[in-house]
Amino acid sequence: MVNNNSGSKQRIVSGMRSTGKLHLGHYLGVIENWVKLQDEFDCYFFAADWHALTTKYDKTEDLRQNVLDVIIDWLACGINPERSTIYVQSLVPEIAELNIYLGMVTPQNWVERDPTLKDMAKILKTKEGANAQISYGLMGYPVLMSADIMAFNASVVPVGTDQLAHLEITRDIARRFNNIYQTNFFNEPVPKLTKVPLLCGIDGEKMGKSFNNDIKISDDEQTTAKKIMQAITDPSRVHKDDLGHPDKCEVAFKYWQIFADPKTIETVKCECEKGQRGCADCKRQLAGVINEKLAPIREKRCYFETHIEEVEKIIEEGSQKARIEAQKILKEVRKLVKMY
Ligand code: TRP
Repeated sequence: MVNNNSGSKQRIVSGMRSTGKLHLGHYLGVIENWVKLQDEFDCYFFAADWHALTTKYDKTEDLRQNVLDVIIDWLACGINPERSTIYVQSLVPEIAELNIYLGMVTPQNWVERDPTLKDMAKILKTKEGANAQISYGLMGYPVLMSADIMAFNASVVPVGTDQLAHLEITRDIARRFNNIYQTNFFNEPVPKLTKVPLLCGIDGEKMGKSFNNDIKISDDEQTTAKKIMQAITDPSRVHKDDLGHPDKCEVAFKYWQIFADPKTIETVKCECEKGQRGCADCKRQLAGVINEKLAPIREKRCYFETHIEEVEKIIEEGSQKARIEAQKILKEVRKLVKMY
């Protein structure tokens, strides 16, 4: 069953580059927020496989599996195909058509000065050496992202702060299109930021799969516990009865604050400060708390992993529904541009 939620609800579009399994940073920073938004908004969530291609065009053997993995992670976390439209970007070719029209009205220097794109180019260069190619497709990243959003004429886009620069370009492109074609057809979509504190990796740096410091939604309990045991704690503590400083405990106590209830957090804090809780025991207990919180999600994940045909059906139906909506928008756009 697909959702029929449209009605008077405001429309949201958001996506993730499908480049591999998601971690707890994605879950707490983005997906948990999406799950809540399903009540209030007409939600469109998609796996951005064309965007994955902007940097991985020569390594496509995992592309299909990556799309499935991302969507299975969402389903496990509570994105519900009966309430939201879940689809794959490349199964909605109308987005590519809109990308062409938007590309025509976008001045070259708008994409050239996109700071997020500059960062991506920098990362690519450090990974692949000085003569790494920045492709035409990668330069078009923010235009394609605008097409993702505007193909559904969304008014709200839930994103992290790292995406704000892209979204600013989307607003500029929408305004410019409206100006050029003398219309107010396109909304200027506003970002909706998550307030959740950024979850750091087990080494205290930003959590990311390329930094090897992440805990995956799909990790099993043992793997999770092993990773938590490696998390850094208060560096000034040598013996387990040394007095601890939870505020200087760079990872473990931060995780406690995110995953435990207020009473437990207070107990952990007091015991640590009094030197009544060794770091190893503390982390073992923390791993238990995190595993308990993730248990239902992981159970659901296992279900979908062993019922891939259900996932494929969700994708197929969602993409079909998304296409019908995008076709309505494109029909209007072709008329406004005065295409044949
Ligand atoms: N650029 C986004 C990211 O890296 C993914 C994305 C592509 C997106 N198109 C979008 C997000 C449209 C929101 C709306 O996370």
